[in-house]
Amino acid sequence: AEIERMEMRKAMDLAAKLYHHVLMKTRYGADARNYLAKRGVSQEAMEEFQLGYAPASFDFLLSFLKGRGFNEALLEKAGLLSLREDKGMKRYFDRFRDRIMFPIMDSQGRVIAFGGRLLGEGRPKYMNSPETPIYSKGNHLFNLHRARSHIRKEQQAILFEGYMDVISAWQAGFPGCVATLGTSLTDDQARILKRNTETVILCYDSDQAGQNAAARGMELLRKQECTVKIAQMPHGMDPDDYILRFGGTAFKEEVLSAALTLTAFKLENLKRNHNLHDEDDRMKYLAEAIGTIAELPLVVEQDHYLRRLAEEFGLSLDALKEDLRRAKKRKK
Ligand code: UTP
Ligand code: MN
Ligand code: MN
Ligand code: MN
Ligand code: MN
Repeated sequence: AEIERMEMRKAMDLAAKLYHHVLMKTRYGADARNYLAKRGVSQEAMEEFQLGYAPASFDFLLSFLKGRGFNEALLEKAGLLSLREDKGMKRYFDRFRDRIMFPIMDSQGRVIAFGGRLLGEGRPKYMNSPETPIYSKGNHLFNLHRARSHIRKEQQAILFEGYMDVISAWQAGFPGCVATLGTSLTDDQARILKRNTETVILCYDSDQAGQNAAARGMELLRKQECTVKIAQMPHGMDPDDYILRFGGTAFKEEVLSAALTLTAFKLENLKRNHNLHDEDDRMKYLAEAIGTIAELPLVVEQDHYLRRLAEEFGLSLDALKEDLRRAKKRKK
């Protein structure tokens, strides 16, 4: 089985090189090159991320790799080919067709999977490699092998949802960025992050799906005892959109620097659900806010947020402390 995995790695590596060559150097890759250029992806980024293009053919990769002596069953198991049984006949064909290819690498930089994006609209927008003997998507993070040294040095990782977010951020001068691989964050991924950094900034899309995923991600990272911050995008944008529109400096100053701690994020969300001009509703907000603060593990943290509440609403800190004491008692 180890030999099989070695063969698969060889096939993945060759496939990545072939797709990359097609994108960069052939007329078949022209539309994909234009598409990427229109989205602001530089030549340099195409090289760095070894982006590629899988032509609109059913047997382009198949015949290339067969010519190199690989067997179809192995390539299918590696997720490069698909299989259709036709009247008892097995037919293998290229899994990725007419897609921009994003190689996914393991922590040593070896290609273990691909994400493939359509050049325009359509479904599925991304097609990803299936789980294979060399790839399980919950155990890897996109771009980790390039980002790791930066993440360790800065003791900060930026976590995105999408490949394009990572590439845009890299172009704008943020090398310490990774993304999940088409699923929400897993325990294993949270553990990998924790091994490399104290602080993780979650920077998810501003749509509902992104916000829900961020909320789940936060809890997992907290379990690993990471310091979590949540960066927020203006409505309807994702980090790639934001960086293209406003640039790297704005991203740093308006988004990353403004990232909220988990508690501040929860308090913000509570606030949005109440009308603070209404006295009753304001009291409800305060009660819920105190309940949130009561869950904090450290007394100094509790004190910090209580003081902020006191200041913001012109309340006596003593009264808030008394309420906090009661809230904690109720929770026991
Ligand atoms: P998004 O829909 O936010 O895509 O999905 P995106 O990264 O912003 O891509 P562009 O900008 O439209 O090109 C976020 C991530 O979820 C996974 C991919 O990993 C994608 O980067 N995804 C999304 C899939 O696996 N399949 C899909 O059909 C869509
Ligand atoms: Mn190249
Ligand atoms: Mn999204
Ligand atoms: Mn997105
Ligand atoms: Mn996007």
